[in-house]
Amino acid sequence: MYGQDANEVRRRADAMPLEAARARIEELVPELIRHNQLYHVEDAAEIDDRSYDLLYRELEILENRFPALVREDSPTLRVGDTPVPELTPFEHRTPMLSLSNAFSDEEMRDFDTRLKRILGDDAPEHIRYSVEPKLDGLALNLIYEDGKLIAGGTRGNGTTGEDVTHNVRTIRAIPESLSGEGLPRRLSVRGEVFFPTGGFLRMNEAREAKGVKRFENPRNAAAGTLRQLNPTVAAGRPLTFLAYALGEVEGALLPGAHTAQIDTVGSWGIPVNSLNRTANGIDEVIAAISELGAKRDSLPYEIDGAVVKVDDLALQAELGFVTRSPRWAIAFKYPPPRVHTILEKVAFQVGRTGAITPVAWLAPVRVGGVTVSRATLHNEDQVRRLDLREGDTVAIERSGDVIPKVVHVVPDEGHADRAPVDFPEACPECNTPASREEGQAVLRCPNTLSCPAQVRAAIRFFGSRRAMDIDGLGEKVVDQLVELGLVRRVSDLFALSAHDLTMLDRMGKRSAEKLIAAIEASKKQPLERALAALGISEVGESTARDVARHFRSLDAIIAATEEQLIEVDGVGAIVASKLVAFFADEGHRAEVMRLREFGVEFPEIAPPAPEDEGSPASPVAGQVFVLTGTLPTLKRSEAKARIEAVGGKVTGSVSKKTDFLVAGEAAGSKLTKATSLGVTVIDEATLLEMLA
Ligand code: IVH
Repeated sequence: MYGQDANEVRRRADAMPLEAARARIEELVPELIRHNQLYHVEDAAEIDDRSYDLLYRELEILENRFPALVREDSPTLRVGDTPVPELTPFEHRTPMLSLSNAFSDEEMRDFDTRLKRILGDDAPEHIRYSVEPKLDGLALNLIYEDGKLIAGGTRGNGTTGEDVTHNVRTIRAIPESLSGEGLPRRLSVRGEVFFPTGGFLRMNEAREAKGVKRFENPRNAAAGTLRQLNPTVAAGRPLTFLAYALGEVEGALLPGAHTAQIDTVGSWGIPVNSLNRTANGIDEVIAAISELGAKRDSLPYEIDGAVVKVDDLALQAELGFVTRSPRWAIAFKYPPPRVHTILEKVAFQVGRTGAITPVAWLAPVRVGGVTVSRATLHNEDQVRRLDLREGDTVAIERSGDVIPKVVHVVPDEGHADRAPVDFPEACPECNTPASREEGQAVLRCPNTLSCPAQVRAAIRFFGSRRAMDIDGLGEKVVDQLVELGLVRRVSDLFALSAHDLTMLDRMGKRSAEKLIAAIEASKKQPLERALAALGISEVGESTARDVARHFRSLDAIIAATEEQLIEVDGVGAIVASKLVAFFADEGHRAEVMRLREFGVEFPEIAPPAPEDEGSPASPVAGQVFVLTGTLPTLKRSEAKARIEAVGGKVTGSVSKKTDFLVAGEAAGSKLTKATSLGVTVIDEATLLEMLA
């Protein structure tokens, strides 16, 4: 990576005995923290980037070799390697409000009538409204002083959000400086941060190719991105912004109508929505909402409604607020986009563990701005319940998430003549007779080692970030490797040459060499990763870690009996039996042996030093966590289980005893309380790093 000195660092770190490593880590952590501070906060770096990277690398190697020595304050536990201080609270000088909703034209008319009643004699015959697309992202408050962007914060509970200035500065649509007539001394502009549909879909494809989990929907992705501590994450993602309201304005006189104000803000260089329009009276509003609704599918971003606001600021002031929303505005919510299409086929897909699941193949259709041709079907029961038959017309609905669901069959005359879906007797990929475990709805292909679908999935998984982390071993590469017969089992990866790889589509000499180097480097992955990478059913990352740390060597794990395995915290009877069955299988044993022959190290974990005995191996162990808001990828129950699996505690409310608040989208009072108590607030990505 860095030539000579990098090799030297690696060689030394690789050879360092435990006690020396412990002492070196004690030096490295404070030193790296100090350089971070100098670089990011004080803007007074003492060493160049490369020297910093080498120190960091050295720490990483030592920590990988001796996970028990990872310090809680280690810079490697921060997201990415250019940490920003934990998100700090962001006070909104004028509150960021939410909107009440309307779901029908009738409710819109009620809204107009209500306003006229409140305004009494001041009510015009036709109230002038602004009708605007309601973007589905998250609200952001930008502060400009003398035309310069100085800060950006999320909405939070409306009064206090989080400071995300570091990420805001990476959003190209948000200008660093404004220009034009009559700039205020201080200006607060509110708007929505979101992913355009195209950028979102491309980003997801790239994630999939890299073996990283797809984002389910653009909104979660936007929230997760904006809350990252490391701005390089946001910088690499196509977030954008449109302004829709002003907060406090000091030192300037702005027009007396909302739309005119937004136009003014636009003239200073802040992006505003060109689809905003005015409507005189509620009939025009209703027409505008329906016109906007008709455009929905052709917009480059997702909208979930239309926001209707009284345009005249004097009337707004007269109408005022109720609790947290203004009386003068309302959000009309469109129903989730639903379309009809033909169910061409129910196909069967074989997963990594051999589960055979039905997938709906649809005649391609646009729904909510995205063309879809597949929908998930969970299992046989669902197919039977919906009574799906190939050739049926089906209603599908896509509410935010990328993959739509089949809602129902649209009755037609042909339905009764069509045959119910046949569930396969054999694996659709390798023809091995499928089996169904007692009492389970899932069909399985038992041919784990040579079913092409399982082999492809196993290899993809083996190379993924969560396992051996082989950069460049994306889905398309794996599929070709299997198809060309270059790889029939995981260990074949280590027999590949750069020359072999140049046979693949779009694989030049340089990428081939890089991939070979990444495969080579993966041989040194710690035991827990190498164990997880084997893809043993029920043995995920956290179980692999528990087992690896308990037994400390692959041979000990292979030799372990079910009774011994059950002694490991977090390992139950099912996991124990899966592990034993896996290693009892001759094919699997041969494959593990072959991996070792190729040089995969499955490195032994050194026993902890005496004073370390019983000390927590994970930075999460012994820490008290509170979870709040919607996390971008984990369900709260999953997050809880994973924290507990490594000895952390999860409680329901924030107190002085709380060590970490894990805050997701729409975190509310717990976040406020945590920040006021000085509890460290982290996002999901940071939690995952700590758990890793
Ligand atoms: S105005 C006082 N206008 O919808 C008015 N909001 O529940 C405050 N949103 O948090 C919001 N597009 O993030 C407004 N054109 C638009 C909007 C919009 C999307 C979001 C916003 C807010 C939520 C309201």
